[in-house]
Amino acid sequence: MSAMTPDRREALIAAARAASAHAYAPYSHFHVGAALLLADGSVVTGANVENASYGLSLCAETVAVAKLMSDGGRGGLTAVAVIGGAPDASGKATPGAEPVTPCGRCRQVLNEIAQLGGNDPVVLCIGADEVVETTLAALLPRAFGPSNLA
Ligand code: THU
Repeated sequence: MSAMTPDRREALIAAARAASAHAYAPYSHFHVGAALLLADGSVVTGANVENASYGLSLCAETVAVAKLMSDGGRGGLTAVAVIGGAPDASGKATPGAEPVTPCGRCRQVLNEIAQLGGNDPVVLCIGADEVVETTLAALLPRAFGPSNLA
């Protein structure tokens, strides 16, 4: 399992911010990027993908998990970084004072792969002046997951 070194932490935050440049958010104009750090040190990113039928929009975290799992990834989720805000000139999110935390649905989606690996990933929520470091279990206590159906 790759430890969350300070360098990896900064790289994960940078990856989330870079991913936010690819957000397709013509309706909310709120760009979100997510980066997943895996046990082997690899990083998978996602950005929010909105839809003209607003309710069908996909959050950045969900996109990242779908990219990972549709490529065969199962478990090994060590950390997640999320950033959101209005886009700058390059499309990257400019975070506001209040760090963006994963929405409720994304917490559940993240929980699926976390439970498959049997670990509790660190979640980094990036704000303008601070990065809130928490865990998925803190954000989604007593989560329903694969183990309930075993
Ligand atoms: N959004 C995310 O991508 N992740 C979250 O955790 C919160 C919300 C997106 C959905 C929508 O495209 C935009 O942010 C505004 O809600």
